[in-house]
Formats: sequence, C-alpha cells, structure tokens
Amino acid sequence: MIRSVVRGFGAQLPERIMKNRDLEGVVETSDDWIVQRTGIRQRHIAGDGETTASLGEGAARAALDRAGMTAADIDLIICATSTPDNTFPATAVNIQNRLGMHHGAAFDVQAVCSGFVFAMTTADTYIRAGMAKRVLVIGAETFSRILDWTDRTTCVLFGDGAGAVVLEAEEGEGTIADRGILTAHLRSDGAHREKLYVDGGPSTTGTVGHLRMEGREVFKHAVGMITDVIEAAYAATGLGSADIDWFVPHQANKRIIDASARKLGIDDDKVVITVDRHGNTSAASIPLALAEAAGDGRIKQGDLVLLEAMGGGFTWGSVLLRW
Ligand code: ACO
Repeated sequence: MIRSVVRGFGAQLPERIMKNRDLEGVVETSDDWIVQRTGIRQRHIAGDGETTASLGEGAARAALDRAGMTAADIDLIICATSTPDNTFPATAVNIQNRLGMHHGAAFDVQAVCSGFVFAMTTADTYIRAGMAKRVLVIGAETFSRILDWTDRTTCVLFGDGAGAVVLEAEEGEGTIADRGILTAHLRSDGAHREKLYVDGGPSTTGTVGHLRMEGREVFKHAVGMITDVIEAAYAATGLGSADIDWFVPHQANKRIIDASARKLGIDDDKVVITVDRHGNTSAASIPLALAEAAGDGRIKQGDLVLLEAMGGGFTWGSVLLRW
C-alpha cells in the first residue's frame, strides 16, 4: 500500500517583527488585551519585495534541501494560500518558475486557514492514486496585505509567513505503524461564509478587499468543528489521544488550541505552539509549526503527529500521520 511520507520541511518568515506594543500606536489596543485574549505577543510582517510567492519559495527551497532533493525531483507543487501574488496565475506556478521547474504541474488550493490540511490531503490523494511520486506542499500567506489596519478586532490577530513539506510515495504494509499519512478528513459549510470573509474580489467589487470577521462566532464553532474531524481520524484508525506524540493545530488563538486539547484529552506538553511569535498566519501556520518542532528535534521519525485546522468558509479538517 502506498503512503505519503514527509521527507523534508522548511519555513520562511519575513524579517520585520511587529510586537503588540508596536500595534498600540496603530489602533486602540494593549499588549495585555492581545496576550490575554489570543496568546499572541508578536507577528512577522512582509516588507517591500516580500510576497506570498517569495516567502513560499524560501520555505520550498529549505524543504527541498532538508529532503536532499531539488526541484527536478518534484512532479507536483500545491500551494495553499488565500493571499496570492495575483488573482491568476496561481502562486504555485509563480513558485514553480522561481524554483526553475518547468515540468510537472502546480496549482493553488484555497481553504483559508484550513488550506494546508486541504493541500496535504490533495497531495496524499495524488500520491496514493499513483499520479505523483514527490509533491511539494506549501502554505504561504501575506495576510497583512488584506487587513484593515483601522479595525482593532482583526488587525492584531494575523501575521505573514510560509512553510513547506516534501511528501514522497513509499510502499508499506498499510498498517498504523507505517510512516506517512494514515488518514485525512475534510469538511466545509458555506452557510458560515459571512462570519469570516474578505469584502472584495474580482467578480464582485473589482478590489482586493479587507478581512472581516465575527470573532466571537468563529470562536463559538471552532472547538466543536476541530474535535469532530479529530474524532473522525480516531474512528478511521482505531487510534486515540493517548497515542498522539505531537498535536500541531492551526495557530489562530491560544485559547482555541487549549480548549481543543483539553476537550480531546491531549496533554499540554504534546502541543506545538507558535501563535505567540507568529500570530495567525492562516495556511502557513501548520507547516511553520511543523518546521519548528521537527527542526529542533521535538518531532522525530516514527512519531504520531496530528494536524488540524478550522477557518473561513467555514472549512475544517484533520490529517493524522506518522512522521
Ligand atoms: N484591543 C482592545 N480591545 C479590543 C480589541 C483589541 N484589539 N478587539 C476587540 N476589543 C474589544 C471589543 O471592542 C469589545 O469591547 P466592548 O465589550 O466594549 O464591546 C471587547 O474587546 C471584547 O470583544 P470580543 O470580540 O467579545 O472579545 P473576545 O473575547 O471574543 O476575543 C477574539 C476576540 C480574540 C477575536 C476572539 O473572538 C477569537 O479569537 N475568535 C476566533 C478568531 C479566529 O480564530 N479567527 C481565525 C479563524 S482562522 C481563518 O480562517 C482566518
């Protein structure tokens, strides 16, 4: 049975760091309010010349290096983003060109903060169907460019960055002890689309628009949706929270992460947290967290790693993999 195994991982964050105190001069807010409500202390903000594709390229190169591969070894690039460099072509195609890759295929996946989970699931489906052998999966965002910097209820929450992994097909027994993606579960419900959306777009206003969010509504649904897709992963594999070595959730808000881990019975010391330093980087948050925890040796080969995300749409999903 074919499994999709992580061979490499990488990250790129913009150089510029904006601390909560820096935001106190932009909107009426305070370091205390932001830390208490969200756990965020700082975020990275893209500067001149830094774009979603340039950050994605940096993360992709790091992931390829770590895998001991070059772009010549890759046959598919999937980039999860809601902040593309252009409406079209896809940011994945832009990154493909920046990597000097002119074969295979590249496309974007748009599922907002769940984008990386959707992209990993898509890559895994291509690999298990025998349609691709090595896939570069990227989550890259520049949310700072779609924020309304006069709206304190949203502008304090987000940051920019990119992360990437290389997935490779590996033949195995098909047991839960094998490396690779064991199971993935995706959901969406467009009835909630106006709770978290961008108020512009090419076919409506002809503008890029700004992010709008009913934060309390998002919060209300988050924990239930997250636990729903994680319980689906447990049901599909017979595994449970006691088996999880590392929980790598989408990093939107420390309170949502804590409440989800508590509800699922996952110990705090198994939870990877980056939201304090990165803010919410949407589709980039999970691969950034993976790169950090695998890079510093916390996540080791053979560990059972649980990914989950919930975001605009609403969309939500989980991926359970053995590293
Ligand atoms: N600084 C100071 N005060 C603020 C700020 C701020 N930055 N923002 C809001 N407030 C005020 C509000 O105006 C309100 O004041 P009022 O009581 O006088 O009206 C008060 O703080 C409380 O506001 P709430 O919105 O009720 O605060 P809440 O505890 O719900 O926290 C937050 C807000 C942090 C946005 C929370 O609701 C949340 O995290 N929601 C989930 C958001 C999320 O995770 N979104 C990402 C989803 S992923 C994706 O797809 C992009």
